[in-house]
Amino acid sequence: MNEMTLQNLGLPLKALFTGYLLAIGLGLLMAGGQIMLTHGMADGKPGLSVDDIVYSYYGDRSGSKLESKLNGSMKDNAPPEVRLDIIKWVRNGATQAEWDTHFKDVFAQNCTMCHSVMPGIPDFTKFDDVKKAAAINEGASIQLLTRVSHIHLFGIAFIFFFVGWIFSYATGFSPLVKAGLIFFPFAFLIIDIASWWLTKFNPNFAVLVIIGGFGYSLASTVMIFSSLYQMWFLKSPR
Ligand code: HEC
Repeated sequence: MNEMTLQNLGLPLKALFTGYLLAIGLGLLMAGGQIMLTHGMADGKPGLSVDDIVYSYYGDRSGSKLESKLNGSMKDNAPPEVRLDIIKWVRNGATQAEWDTHFKDVFAQNCTMCHSVMPGIPDFTKFDDVKKAAAINEGASIQLLTRVSHIHLFGIAFIFFFVGWIFSYATGFSPLVKAGLIFFPFAFLIIDIASWWLTKFNPNFAVLVIIGGFGYSLASTVMIFSSLYQMWFLKSPR
């Protein structure tokens, strides 16, 4: 009996492995696409960049949306002293007490002619909506990170396990290279998830998220393609 290799597998196992690898390969492409669509647009510009990662996980702590809009597209809707007044209140925590006594009227005079009638923008007759716009964007919440982390670790480890197992029957790679390719995706997966958390607390780690994700995509692509190639196109018996 020959040693079991991808090349000399029987047809049924080849069919099983091929079906699995094709589905996983497609899944990885879809995952990549989804990342581009969600995180890719986080900073408002298409394409995944370090800024997107920072925005998604760390947030934009330079100020609230209310403040940036009052200095941006809402600038013409209130005189400078009113804008300054609102910004100061926001920076001091946008308290309900001051809302009731003063800012309710300020917003009523300057903002609610649009922000209570136009659909799709916050309703500034409601303190809740003002409060939300006044909050600092701190990126992904701990709850979200915990949930997504464990789903990713379990789910993706499962995928890599079988991809790696199939690839372990490939020929023509030295045992060290093979072991490396099989191990890398797990290592990069852990780096990737760990760097989400690190980025949540320090934006400088954002680049690690990209390295991790890119690393495991690359290692699994190599395994998927060489496994498929060896099952179907490798002819000469070794
Ligand atoms: C002439 C109508 C109009 C007035 C007056 C107006 N806004 Fe707006 N506001 C808009 C529109 C339209 C948008 C959505 C487009 C944009 O973000 O620039 C918006 C968006 C915003 C947003 C971003 C909401 C979000 O969740 O994306 C904030 C914050 C905001 N306005 C604050 C204010 C404040 C504070 C005032 C009063 C000083 C004000 N606006 C007055 C029309 C108005």
